[in-house]
Amino acid sequence: CRRQLLPCDGGFFTQTEHLRERLPDGMKSPSMKPFYITTAIDYTNAPPHIGHAYEKVLADVMARFQRLNGREVYFLTGVDQHGQKVQKSAEKAGQSPAEFVDGVTKHFTALWDKLNVRFDGWAATTDDRHKRVVRAMLQKLHDCGQLYKKSYSGFYSVRQEQFLTDKERGPDGQYGEEWGEVVELEEENWYFRLSDHVEWLKGHIRSHPDFIYPPHRANDVLNSLEGTPQDLCISRPIERLSWGIPLPFDERFVNYVWFDALSNYITFAGYMADECGNEGLPKFETIWPADAEIIGKDILVPAHAVYWPIMLHALGFPDDQIPKLVVHGWWNVKGAKMSKSLGNVIDPNVLSDTFTPDGLRYYLMRDIATGYDADFSDERIIMSYNKELAGGLGNLLNRSINMAQKYRSGVLTPGDYDDEINQALRQTVAEAVPAYLEKMSGWDIHEGIAAAWRI
Ligand code: MSP
Repeated sequence: CRRQLLPCDGGFFTQTEHLRERLPDGMKSPSMKPFYITTAIDYTNAPPHIGHAYEKVLADVMARFQRLNGREVYFLTGVDQHGQKVQKSAEKAGQSPAEFVDGVTKHFTALWDKLNVRFDGWAATTDDRHKRVVRAMLQKLHDCGQLYKKSYSGFYSVRQEQFLTDKERGPDGQYGEEWGEVVELEEENWYFRLSDHVEWLKGHIRSHPDFIYPPHRANDVLNSLEGTPQDLCISRPIERLSWGIPLPFDERFVNYVWFDALSNYITFAGYMADECGNEGLPKFETIWPADAEIIGKDILVPAHAVYWPIMLHALGFPDDQIPKLVVHGWWNVKGAKMSKSLGNVIDPNVLSDTFTPDGLRYYLMRDIATGYDADFSDERIIMSYNKELAGGLGNLLNRSINMAQKYRSGVLTPGDYDDEINQALRQTVAEAVPAYLEKMSGWDIHEGIAAAWRI
């Protein structure tokens, strides 16, 4: 049927050429570099839930949209395997961290396979190529005076793996639940001169309104930069945390997990590949900077909007080589955050088995506005599957194919009917296609879907 129904004078390529002409200006040039899109890399301390699935499907949908428009795409996703959280979960499970992360990582790769998340690069932070780049970067920062050692005593959040300041205290003077167990520690550590670059960052944010999508998030970042800037502790003594990348100039310490994790975006794009003897990666100059680093709202400040651009700036990346961030909201359940303790964690595997992978992907894209939170609802996913996919799209497709077979021997030719119904249909199509392209290009996926539905 498919062969017969495609117009024989055009076919797929002509159709995408035709789409490309209608693209917003920024997306037109065929000489553009590949579209480099990344996601957050997931902690391998527990199996994936619906929030992880949403982010990766969002990235995959955008990657496919770009490919359909004829743009080459490099889509990177992966797993964040080091750090205290993982070390603790492995201890609890009675396994070595390496064995433990191997097991959990398989749940992620199996899910991406199941949901047809078609990525090009896999960023696992225990990959030797990544360890070499992180060590080379640290050495570079050390050599240019960006790192120093000092002793510090203060309150430390075991869950968030960071020292806390008074800023993090709640109105009652206590550290809130989000910090988990907070202990008092005195420790010698290595620090990164983050504070030297805060003024630069403020300027960068103000002069690059497209640095963060949706743009209103930039205010959260600027607000977080008020007050006296602090340097960033980028090491953990090996006695406390052994599951990490050792600092090349002081092997008694491993690298802070966020510093290690953020670097994945450049390692797996081929940064310092020659110096590190890394193979099988893209040519860095051809794909950097990332056109979209997709992350959830919880990891924008400070990790992605402060540490990350400052790390790159300190390494000598010019302003036009700072990647763009796309910040999505969270899926909640009946207004509450998903959590193991509440027992309300939604397993994407079960949903995919019930509603098919495409049924789940569709729901995840149609029922949330990019950048905002949404509430997961059984009723809504059942409605979207039954009413929209089966009753709407499936029924239309089924009837069209049957009628094409029955009345036109399965061969369609362009018609020149000019009655009211056909004029209205042409008009709808003529308006829906550019609306679809505009919405999709601007990350308004659910509006893009709505535009397609108008047809
Ligand atoms: N490992 C860090 C990210 C390092 S990126 C250099 C991390 N991992 S995570 O597993 O906790 O979260 C991974 C992604 O899933 C984050 O972008 C996070 O915002 C997203 N989500 C986690 N729970 C979510 C929902 N309930 N809803 C939508 N996305 C959420 O943070």
